[in-house]
Parts: sequence; structure tokens; C-alpha cells
Amino acid sequence: MTTSVLPAAIEQISVRVALAVREGLCSLPKRLPSWLFYDEAGSRLFDKITELPEYYLTRTERGILAVHSAAMIDRAAGGERLRIAELGAGSADKTRLLLKAAVERQGAMIYEPVDVSPSALEVARQRIEQEIPEVQVAPQFADYTHGLEMEPVNAGERRLVLYIGSSIGNFEPQEAQRLLQGVRAGLKTGDGFLLGVDLVKDEETLLAAYDDAAGVTAAFNRNILVRLNRELGADFDADTFAHRAIWNAAHSRMEMHLMSRRAQWVRIPALDAEFAFAAGETIHTENSYKYRPGQAEEMLASSGFTLVANWTDEQGWFVVCLGRVE
Ligand code: AVI
Repeated sequence: MTTSVLPAAIEQISVRVALAVREGLCSLPKRLPSWLFYDEAGSRLFDKITELPEYYLTRTERGILAVHSAAMIDRAAGGERLRIAELGAGSADKTRLLLKAAVERQGAMIYEPVDVSPSALEVARQRIEQEIPEVQVAPQFADYTHGLEMEPVNAGERRLVLYIGSSIGNFEPQEAQRLLQGVRAGLKTGDGFLLGVDLVKDEETLLAAYDDAAGVTAAFNRNILVRLNRELGADFDADTFAHRAIWNAAHSRMEMHLMSRRAQWVRIPALDAEFAFAAGETIHTENSYKYRPGQAEEMLASSGFTLVANWTDEQGWFVVCLGRVE
């Protein structure tokens, strides 16, 4: 990221935050989009979540990648060189497993993390280039939820786009489908798409994963209010909002909410507005959809990908699917 891009990027982000907060808090029931979680503190808290014993998602997907990353890279490459793009700026050690498998196969390569966070892109660039010197990182500042526009790859090269970590689960099913169609539209024949998806499992396991004993997920949820205080001058007292995690079986999703413990008003100067909260009123902050076996593959197919292969864990808790543009 060059320094000349940075101020414009920051300005875009705060306008986006203000618009999203106005729309969400004027809705009934109140809601806030889950991408607001990921400021610097929120990203750190999310990293901590991924290490919690209750948060099975990361270690389960990592286990699948640890066993199968070489096969994934091989199937995606189909005899050519790969360039790897990732939606989101790097899923730490999971991305590394795939990059290392690709380096093992072809030597030097280009990795293109795509994100709206300049700081996350910079962290990814430094970390990956330091740890895997064969990888040249080419950060892409872009909102991939509105389609994917990437520079053409070199002759003899294919692009493999990663969307791992079950981030697709944070989109409404129709939005998820649109996102995949947008990615598909930005790819060429032979390119691949690797999608990691969390699957439905017993309710107890799901609830614990989103309401851990150490309270890290609760802090992650409340951090959204701390962010609004800092960025919009709001006066939320985050401690007066309780973390709630609910399994919504009818919609096959985990939900996170913030519940106001008392009746209160919150001022948001940047919006020139005040918002009333009744005691017990909630802000819906996140949906995390859990798919049934076969659903992710169907979604890939109906977005225009041909399913090449899928890999799962012993318990059938998580699936990684590879689709290709034919
Ligand atoms: C990023 N995303 C896949 C996480 C999830 O599980 O939906 C975010 C998260 N929310 C609470 N814990 C983690």
C-alpha cells in the first residue's frame, strides 16, 4: 500500500461506517453489520477467538488443510503455475499451509490478499514475505463483496482464489451467492476457487463456540460499540450491553446480539442523532450460517463453478471445496 492511497482509503472507510451505523440503528430490530467488528482491536480479538478451545472452526479447517493442501494446490494448478489470491488479508497459518504447498511445487509465486483494511494488508505483506521469502505479496485494496477485478495473470499461470475460514457464513445466503457469482465473473477459464465452509452440528458445540468461557467473544462483540465511540464520537457504555449468542435452527445460523441491560439513550455526534434503547432491547450484530453437507457444493455450482473436489474432517464438521471455471 503506497502512502498516497492511505488517506483516501481511511476517508472511504469512515463514511462507510457512518452510513452503515445510521441505517442499522434506524432499523427495527436494530442491527449493525458484522464487518464493523474488524478494526485493529477487533482483529486482535478475532485472532484470540481462533485459538480458543471452544472455537472449533479454525483448528478443524487447519487440520483439513494440513493433510490436503498439497492435493488442493495440485488439483487447482492442473499442470500450470499458480498465483494465489485471498479474499480477506490472510488467515494466518492456514494461508501459510497453502502458500508453502504451492512454493514446494513451483518455487517463487505471487500472493494477492484482497481487503478493505490497509493495515490488515500491510500486516499480511510483512508477515508472509518474512516467513516465506519465495512469496511476493501484491496487496489489493478492494471490497470483494462488490465483485473481483484483478489484473490478468501471466501466460502459463492460473489464479486460485481462497475464501477460507467460513467467512462466507457471515453473509445472507442470497448475498453469499451473489458474492460467489461476482468472484466467478472476475475469473478466467482454468482459474480456481477454494471455499471453506462450517457445517451444521450439535447445538451445544455451536453455542460454546460463540459464547466462550473466557469471554473473548463477548469482548469481540462489544468492541463494535467501542469502535463507534472512537470513530463516530458515540457515547455507548459498552458494559451496559450483554453478549447474546443464539442458535437459530429455522435459519440454520448462529446469531450474535448485544442486549441493552437498561433503558438508555446513546448519542452519536457524527450522525447528529440520538438512539433510544429499551431495557432488554438488542442490536443484532452477526449471523454465522452453518451449511448442510452438499449445500456449499450446490452454491458453487449455481454460481458457475465446476466442483473439482471437496475435503472434510473426520467428524464432518467443516468442508473445503474446490471449484473451477471451465
Ligand atoms: C469470521 N467469521 C467466520 C467468524 C464466524 O465464526 O462467523 C466470526 C466470529 N464471530 C464470532 N466468533 C467468530
